[in-house]
Amino acid sequence: MSEHKTYPPAADFVKNAHVDAAKYEEMYAASINDPDTFWKEHGQRVDWIKPFTKIKDIDFTLGNVSIKWFEDGQLNVAANCVDRHLDKRGDQTAIIWEADDPEEPSKHITYRELSEQVNKLSNVYKELGVGRGDRVVLYMPMIPEAAYAMLACARIGAIHSIVFAGFSPEALAARVSGCEAKLIVTADQAPRGGRNTALKSNVDKALEISGDTKVLMVERTGADVDMKDGRDFAYGPLMEKASAECEPEAMNAEDPLFILYTSGSTGAPKGVVHTTGGYLVWAAMTHEITFDYHDGDVYWCTADVGWVTGHSYIVYGPLANGATTLMFEGVPTYPDASRFWQVCEKHKVAQFYTAPTAIRALMGQGNEYVEKCDLSSLKLLGTVGEPINPEAWEWYHNEVGKGKIPIVDTWWQTETGGHLMTPLPGAHALKPGAAMKPFFGVKPAVLDPQSGEEITENPTEGVLVITDSWPGQMRTVWGDHERFEKTYFSDYKGYYFSGDGCRRDADGDYWITGRVDDVINVSGHRMGTAEVESALVAHPKVSEAAVVGYPHNIKGQGIYCYVTLMSGEEPSEELRKELRDWVRKEIGPIASPDLIQWAPGLPKTRSGKIMRRILRKIAENDYGALGDTSTLADPGVVDELIDNRMNRE
Ligand code: WTA
Repeated sequence: MSEHKTYPPAADFVKNAHVDAAKYEEMYAASINDPDTFWKEHGQRVDWIKPFTKIKDIDFTLGNVSIKWFEDGQLNVAANCVDRHLDKRGDQTAIIWEADDPEEPSKHITYRELSEQVNKLSNVYKELGVGRGDRVVLYMPMIPEAAYAMLACARIGAIHSIVFAGFSPEALAARVSGCEAKLIVTADQAPRGGRNTALKSNVDKALEISGDTKVLMVERTGADVDMKDGRDFAYGPLMEKASAECEPEAMNAEDPLFILYTSGSTGAPKGVVHTTGGYLVWAAMTHEITFDYHDGDVYWCTADVGWVTGHSYIVYGPLANGATTLMFEGVPTYPDASRFWQVCEKHKVAQFYTAPTAIRALMGQGNEYVEKCDLSSLKLLGTVGEPINPEAWEWYHNEVGKGKIPIVDTWWQTETGGHLMTPLPGAHALKPGAAMKPFFGVKPAVLDPQSGEEITENPTEGVLVITDSWPGQMRTVWGDHERFEKTYFSDYKGYYFSGDGCRRDADGDYWITGRVDDVINVSGHRMGTAEVESALVAHPKVSEAAVVGYPHNIKGQGIYCYVTLMSGEEPSEELRKELRDWVRKEIGPIASPDLIQWAPGLPKTRSGKIMRRILRKIAENDYGALGDTSTLADPGVVDELIDNRMNRE
């Protein structure tokens, strides 16, 4: 029996669903008991230029980690997302684009138009000297050209690395040199929430740091920008004269499709590498089954293409399935808090997928913003990126879903390529806040964090690992396979370690409890505390810094910084602001510290290690339970930190 309120799927939903309860059990068992047969069949979701004969070849042993799926097959991702749909769906809308400004007309791009744009851009890339295996950095607004730019890379076998447009020039420069990009695709400006971010001038600043790279610039707003002769190229004129025919490259299943930098516990962000065949199978299959996507549905994922959610669930998954995918340039609260719901009404959205932080922010604005819109087209809601609290879940369910439609709470990571755990809407009774069940082929396990032993009984709690590979798994860290092995396969031998903790309840359903490492989740954006720390200590007045997360009503977690100043420096409100601006400049606005506490000293062990557990407790305002502080070099600093704590809620 469950200790929680559950929401069984409605009978009429089950009737039409791709997967009902019996089918889930049957398919899940097949996927685990005989993966080769299962994936031989589901590998056919995509079209192969040369069919694969090998299914999987996996080694999770530290020192020897190697992950290969469909390794002797050849395919092209752009051909799968565009060309193969032309016969049946040439005139169907592939992408609906909704601008930041609601007055600006939306666009409906058919598969035929998509094909023309992608082919032309592929030829433009070639003209700029980009070919198979070269890296292309995308620093783009949420415009259809971002999807064209991704697909054109895939078509010619170039590897894209998208940098979220909210990152600073410094962060962009590091990612451009990190993958030795041959080209940067950007736009003059990115309109968002009524303001324009100067993307091109950010690129110019980044190139002052990283050295020149060719730049292809889409004219989004027509703003005046500097163009450097021989380095910078305007998109419009090159596209105009490009041919609309470009043969897709036959790529090996294990050729890299993209790199995406993401934050970890330590060090600089790492370039997660996804490859061609397994990733596409995974993105397409999860998109269709998790969202119960049916032909003709308008599907909307509100993420940005700068994050993995935008890769798998705005572009690759939906387009591989011949879906109609909506791309939104703006933010949930512009011009007001009804924008999401107005867009749902305007485009008759059937599946709507967003982050808990957006739900919480909109919930706080009041119900009238939802109630004034006609949401009768909605069939399913989804969430991703962080644990959703039951209050937000109930609001989403009752206000947006009118208590009638399922919510899929999808747990996954940049590393996993697509959903690993989620309820399937026609199969499972939902529990608010639970990621519920593994997707096909996913074998989760809960380990005791200390002993590393697998816990088989229920209920239980521990660290979440996956015991075998799935096709969408990342293959390596760009340029650093050793770091890949160390990050994911060294703490718990023989498993993929997710970095998340979880509970498994008495029914065997999974609940994600959040990160167990030094990664925090701010408004659904993943952030390494080490990155913020190294930005802070780069400031001339800062001698030491420790950064932790703390519970934040809207953002999920906020960024709490303990800062020790150089001797002789005086704390002040101006300096707080200066440090905040400094971090924004070093990383980007998403890393802006919420609270900065001046810390004359930090709690350290006698060997000099900062005791982050204590800092976390103080930031959480839970300093009654500090545990053992006797190993501290100077226990007195703790009282000082408690007395001057910033979060008193
Ligand atoms: C968290 C985003 C709870 C988790 C797709 C994970 C979640 C990190 C959920 C990955 C969820 C993602 N419930 N937590 N449904 N989905 N997370 O790489 O901590 O940006 O490790 O990928 O987000 O973040 P990333």
